[in-house]
Amino acid sequence: MTAAVLLSGCAVTSETPNALIPKGPAAEEIAGLWWVMLGVGTIVYLVVLGLLFLAIWRGRRDPTGPENWWGRNSRAFILSAGVIFPVIILFGVYIITLGVLRSVSQSGDSQRNVIEVIGHQWWWEVNYPEQDFRTANELHIPVGEKVQVRLRSADVIHSFWVPQLSGKLDLIPGRTNTLWVEADSPGEYWGLCAEFCGTQHAKMLFVVVAQPRQSYERWLTEQQEAAREPTAEAARLGRDLFMEGECADCHTIRGTEAAGDLGPDLTHFARRLTLGAGAAPNNRGHLAGWIADPHGLKPGNFMPATKLTGEELNTLVAYLETLE
Ligand code: CUA
Repeated sequence: MTAAVLLSGCAVTSETPNALIPKGPAAEEIAGLWWVMLGVGTIVYLVVLGLLFLAIWRGRRDPTGPENWWGRNSRAFILSAGVIFPVIILFGVYIITLGVLRSVSQSGDSQRNVIEVIGHQWWWEVNYPEQDFRTANELHIPVGEKVQVRLRSADVIHSFWVPQLSGKLDLIPGRTNTLWVEADSPGEYWGLCAEFCGTQHAKMLFVVVAQPRQSYERWLTEQQEAAREPTAEAARLGRDLFMEGECADCHTIRGTEAAGDLGPDLTHFARRLTLGAGAAPNNRGHLAGWIADPHGLKPGNFMPATKLTGEELNTLVAYLETLE
């Protein structure tokens, strides 16, 4: 719900994170199971309501009377409606669920597409171990291929969930959980943290960008590159400010002396769709607001407010905008 409200104000992607509009094979299986369960539950509910109204309508009567079929057969009725039917229904649903669980956990090629996701309060570190780079709050995947997502946590328990693509899986400190994600068609899909993990749990979103293999590989190549040196005067001043100030203590920008690892890697920050893990769209206005007062947008997060003049803030934003 929070995500829906947030996303409507932040139209980065037109898709809603609706698990009932599946865009991948695992999500399709899960949505199918959801409809089956809704159907079975609805039928059981209506039958129980029907019996309740029947009992009210008939009222109290002599349990042994000759016209009272229900009274004479009460034991058989309780045994069948109270024990046998529920057992059959629950066992049937159990079998269907097992089938879905099996097909959802089907694995793909674990050498080819591997992404490591590490949950932090309150953002997602995203590593591409084979290509040896890291980014944040955004996963790019090739369309129509199963991608192995290895989930770890840096602090508390989080839960990785892309409703339109897969089921959810917890990120647990001290262990690695593996989830397979696949998208049927290109697009941007919202993901969210599905386990309460502190004050900004609701603003711990990410985007999965599914793209055709060719453009996916182009993206991989571009991400591996170091940041370019800014040429414009304002951006150069902003760069110095970033390196000399507190920013570089927490953030890494590959190709520069900034090598902090407490906050997201900003090497190609300007290309990301959101800032603050989905707290706002990544544009000039929001970026300036975010740096000046990170707690206005996301109270309690670990980025300290900066004491910059308007002039300094402008140069810093100008520099960050060059990080394509
Ligand atoms: Cu991380 Cu909730």
